[in-house]
Amino acid sequence: MITLDYTFSLIDESELDEVIRKVEEINERVKRKPYPFMELPYIRFQLKEMEEMVRNLKKKRLEDVILLGIGGSALGAKAICEALLSYSRDKKPRLWILDNIDPFTINWVLEKIEKKKSLLVVVSKSGETTETLAQFMIFKDALREVSDLKEKVVIITDPQNGTLKRIAEKEGYLCLFVPRDVGGRFSVLTPVAMFPSLLMGVKIEEIFDGAKKMAEHIRTFSRRENMSFVIAAILYLMDKKGKSLHVIMPYCDRLIGFSEWFRQLEAESLGKGGKGPTPIHSRGVTDQHSQLQLYIDGPKNKFLIFMYSFSEGPSVPDSFSYLDELSYLSGKTLEDLFLAELTATKLSLLEASVPSIDIRIDEISAFSMGALFYLFEMVIAFFGELLGVNPFDQPAVEKGKVYTKALLGAKGYENVKSQIEILQSGKRAIVSL
Ligand code: PA5
Repeated sequence: MITLDYTFSLIDESELDEVIRKVEEINERVKRKPYPFMELPYIRFQLKEMEEMVRNLKKKRLEDVILLGIGGSALGAKAICEALLSYSRDKKPRLWILDNIDPFTINWVLEKIEKKKSLLVVVSKSGETTETLAQFMIFKDALREVSDLKEKVVIITDPQNGTLKRIAEKEGYLCLFVPRDVGGRFSVLTPVAMFPSLLMGVKIEEIFDGAKKMAEHIRTFSRRENMSFVIAAILYLMDKKGKSLHVIMPYCDRLIGFSEWFRQLEAESLGKGGKGPTPIHSRGVTDQHSQLQLYIDGPKNKFLIFMYSFSEGPSVPDSFSYLDELSYLSGKTLEDLFLAELTATKLSLLEASVPSIDIRIDEISAFSMGALFYLFEMVIAFFGELLGVNPFDQPAVEKGKVYTKALLGAKGYENVKSQIEILQSGKRAIVSL
């Protein structure tokens, strides 16, 4: 189903085995005290509640679902829906994932949606994220004429604390929760991404099954037979050897959302205390004509992770039979072309001593997506332990959130203002046209 090929990783075998041994030790510890996200494929948190809510909401004949959330509160749903739904013909309701506050986009969506047949899904673990709260306030106001609005707002947040929780209680909105000890970017297997996916028709039980299958693989297999150990060890070794730009490059449009999800997971989990790789997401074949020159011939600080999953498509017809120079193309499928392009890219990188690994997914399905999410969550957690950083917090991001509130004049942030003034007091350097 999912195959890792690390033939071109250019890794020294004994070094790899040494790091894998360390990951195994970490894994033994983790078996005794699992990370909170590890129980999610088993407990299937609030599955019954989600199913019932979706059953009731179907009766409302929704035209538009608007997901308001950012970072870990949006990217999981985005990855799933892009992988499994973006090419389906039957697109009702339409899903809008608003993970930004660009006024132009928000205006455009406000104009497009069928307000009386819209559902707001407001997602924030902390319940305090300024962008999400602002979006919610704007959309709630835009939908003020909707008589049954109370039944058309679903809030997904912490079960105990936060402004969003208080709003849900006060106004009587539908509510789902994120388990207390599961943080944003590790929350894909909670209602955060499972509810919008289920609402859009994804078989989320299969996502959980795929994640469970991967969990069992990780628990059971040892050494180089364990995919998570090998990937975590390679990522760590690459970083250690100065190949700290990790380019994740799916040759599969449906996995672009997944690469964005991975980019957040790796960056926010590991970028701490002066450490951590820089993930870059790229797209095959498109970026062969945009980035590959740099990857092959630029600074030798990159490592590539290819992902691919082919699907049937058209063959190239013999449209210009009088042209001998095009005869190599006619009769080939686009899959033949995709594979030739990918192989050529891997070989060119190898020749230039740029390491890469590839991950083949036989079929993009709810099951394989579940397995991939779980695999990479474990990989990043192991990688964090190897680096000696806590993969589950994000202190630097929190600081930005505090400064934003202080700049906007939020109550309780008055003393942060003086800190901001000091930071802004330097000589200004501006050029304008
Ligand atoms: O991984 C994280 O914790 C963050 O990326 C959060 O998901 C993001 O900042 C949004 O936070 P919240 O879900 O609290 O609104």
